[in-house]
Amino acid sequence: MEKRRISTEFTREDEPIETSLRPQHLEDYVGQKKVKDNLKIYIEAARQRKEPLDHVLLYGPPGLGKTTLAGIIANEMGVNLKVTAGPAIEKPGEMAAILNNLQEGDVLFVDEIHRLNRQVEEVLYPAMEDFVIDVVIGKGSSARSIRLELPRFTLVGATTRAGMLSAPLRDRFGVVNRLEFYTPEELTTIIRHSAERLGVEVEEEGARELARRSRGTPRLANRLLKRVRDFAQIKYDGRITREVTEFALNLLEVDKLGLDNTDRRIITTLIHNFGGGPVGVETLAVSLGEDAGTLEDVYEPYLVQNGLLLRTPRGRMASDTAYHHFGLQPPER
Ligand SMILES: Nc1ncnc2c1ncn2[C@@H]1O[C@H](COP(=O)(O)OP(=O)(O)OP(=O)(O)O)[C@@H](O)[C@H]1O
Ligand SMILES: [Mg+2]
Repeated sequence: MEKRRISTEFTREDEPIETSLRPQHLEDYVGQKKVKDNLKIYIEAARQRKEPLDHVLLYGPPGLGKTTLAGIIANEMGVNLKVTAGPAIEKPGEMAAILNNLQEGDVLFVDEIHRLNRQVEEVLYPAMEDFVIDVVIGKGSSARSIRLELPRFTLVGATTRAGMLSAPLRDRFGVVNRLEFYTPEELTTIIRHSAERLGVEVEEEGARELARRSRGTPRLANRLLKRVRDFAQIKYDGRITREVTEFALNLLEVDKLGLDNTDRRIITTLIHNFGGGPVGVETLAVSLGEDAGTLEDVYEPYLVQNGLLLRTPRGRMASDTAYHHFGLQPPER
């Protein structure tokens, strides 16, 4: 598929704002109540026992706050955060070296953990379970394996593709949390905080309109806020009103429900090529030129959450709401 104009994935545009807007403590982290309540208890308990926190897996669509939460966990535990990512580690020895350099209690954040290769992943099994690694020294017949003790650490893994995680790895996480899309109210709060930090004046109705069109995603809310600010500055008096928000987002082709061209193409393909479904996810993916896993984990969640796309045992279907959203009459079913 063409690159999304309004992707929820990280882009260079986000770099300067993300670091400055990222909350540092649990109390500043808006929404995700279940996850926060859960973590609060585990963190408190671990601190009381003076033990490292159990390994934590965070999963969910891009831009919902997984990396942010990893940083917060380290802050709340009062330990160092070491950051790496699945694709960055190619050899088992590299993973062993990273683990060996940790200090007692440290948080090791592994982003895109589903992209670790099998041999690297296998280093993690004993490390996570017993805080040891097995290192092979020597070659050929004289090769032998020695066991190294590691400091006790916390692995925080993040993935947008939970389905691609191997069972043995998934089973070694004591705490597994799924991040949910944010409500428009929660996003309004985030937008107000961000506007304050950026020194932009935003009217309540402007913030709400922006929130409704941000696809339930804080990253997108922050990015759109920045874009709308530019419009407000050039075309209006700098204040973000509902009017300027609508004007700017229409121009960016983000519709009332926060759908972009890619979302619209998924739904209209379903409606026009498959009579609204049901159609298998594989078939739908092929006609969109996308792989089925990505369609399922990255593109579909927001459409499902919004009630536009239905996942049924017989395949994907466009809901009546979807037909109405495009000004079409749903078929008799
Ligand atoms: N709960 C929250 N409260 C306030 N701001 C948030 C929250 N969650 C995320 N953000 C904002 O959204 C930005 C993106 O979040 P983050 O980078 O943590 O997402 P992610 O889930 O790691 O995305 P990816 O899957 O692309 O790695 C952060 O920089 C932060 O500014
Ligand atoms: Mg991240």
